Amino acid sequence: MTNKQKELITATVPILRAGGETLTNYFYARMLKAHPELKNTFNMGNQANGRQKSALANAVLAYAENIENPGVLIGALKGISTKHRSLNIQPEQYKIVGNHLIASIAEVVGEAATPEILEAWTVAYYQLADIMINIEKEMYAENAAKPGSWNGWRKFVIKKIVSESDEVKSFYLYPEDGGAIANFLAGQYVSVQVFVPELQLLQPRQYSLSSGFNPEYYRISVKRETGIVPNPNGMVSQTLHTKSEGDTVMLSAPAGIFHMHKEAKSPLVLISGGVGFTPMLSMLETNKANIENSKTVWVHGCRSHSLHAFREQLTTLKEELHWLETYTFYDTIHAHENHGDNVLPGRVDLHKCKDAILLNDANYYICGPELFIKAQYQSLLNLNINKDNIFYEEFGPQIINLN
Ligand SMILES: Cc1cc2nc3c(=O)[nH]c(=O)nc-3n(C[C@H](O)[C@H](O)[C@H](O)COP(=O)(O)OP(=O)(O)OC[C@H]3O[C@@H](n4cnc5c(N)ncnc54)[C@H](O)[C@@H]3O)c2cc1C
Ligand code: HEM
Repeated sequence: MTNKQKELITATVPILRAGGETLTNYFYARMLKAHPELKNTFNMGNQANGRQKSALANAVLAYAENIENPGVLIGALKGISTKHRSLNIQPEQYKIVGNHLIASIAEVVGEAATPEILEAWTVAYYQLADIMINIEKEMYAENAAKPGSWNGWRKFVIKKIVSESDEVKSFYLYPEDGGAIANFLAGQYVSVQVFVPELQLLQPRQYSLSSGFNPEYYRISVKRETGIVPNPNGMVSQTLHTKSEGDTVMLSAPAGIFHMHKEAKSPLVLISGGVGFTPMLSMLETNKANIENSKTVWVHGCRSHSLHAFREQLTTLKEELHWLETYTFYDTIHAHENHGDNVLPGRVDLHKCKDAILLNDANYYICGPELFIKAQYQSLLNLNINKDNIFYEEFGPQIINLN
């Protein structure tokens, strides 16, 4: 890329920033019309609620802003590429995205998009695409080399379904071929692909593995997503909740950059909101299986006692495990309810349990909705926790960037 082209890119960033979402809306509509088969690959729920579109817009802008030194984005790109790997995105698909993105810039920006500007963006896009294709090539190779692992989709049988609360069900998934399955790092997810009859499409979604590694099955725990009028119900979670034991789903191999770190001796502070408890359960079970268990404090918030999934198992675990301490916040606690010590009313407030969570060298893992993550992250900073020790995952496209 020439210096002149870099200047053109830098000069057009403000235009893209101003109209970023208009462009990406236009781009997605254009691409999915020409390639309707890609509707089976993209999350059509995120298309409808707009979240994936802003994720792509942010990534393109971040790249353009760092055009002089794209190396600084490698960390962020690995997060995107691990999701791409779990969705089986292939190098040739970058051409489809590139063609439609550049054509969309030309059509949306109009005459101001001169041939030089379009050429500069074409070079920039393919520079970014090449970096990502190479990262993903390595990821596919590494994944294929892992015992029990596989690239693409593999059929799994739902052998057991357990209701964990009024709205969460766990699914025990066994490979139909009876072969081995890959180990994973506690906190990672699998992509699950199901056929959604209302859309007449296959749809993928990510679900964190909610138990420690078991060589025979993967367990996921899914909240039935009920739309708040006028928004529709969640497509895949509702479809999964209608499944019976013996039904099958397709799975890609475990992936994800949010996971417990190897130096298991550091204390763990797990902070979850709602269904964000799933990766924490996996971390807890994995810690239990470690020879040297780390002191663990789990702070969890949800709407009420009846919606607190895995509540009883957690109480049993707490009695058994001397290194585990829990704090639970319920939005609503009725006057007649008594849930014992460490169960507090209202939203999660880390200041209310700060003596328990301020532990030397602890790693802090946050999982929950966007606003929950932002609030807990800020509380940890207020409590002087170092950013390097805070890890978080949002159950949607990577949009927040706090570290
Ligand atoms: C890494 C990761 C791990 C995850 N782990 C878990 C887990 O362990 N357990 C779990 O339950 N979930 C988990 N999720 C979330 C999960 O992937 C799904 O996003 C979730 O199940 C909802 O999917 P759905 O198909 O049911 O909803 P979708 O159909 O995708 O809808 C999502 C939301 O968009 C709204 N919406 C849809 N259409 C519109 C519209 N036209 N206008 C406005 N709003 C609209 C819906 O009302 C709903 O609230 C995880 C996500 C990620 C990224
Ligand atoms: C340079 C090109 C690309 C960039 C910058 C990019 C960027 C992104 C980003 C930022 C995300 C969100 C990551 C997350 O959810 O954590 C994402 C997800 C995704 N990308 Fe890409 N991507 C590119 C190319 C492609 C290609 C070629 C395809 C295949 C056609 C593709 C398909 C997807 C899908 C299916 C998702 C998940 C969507 C969702 O869950 O809503 N991407 N990408």
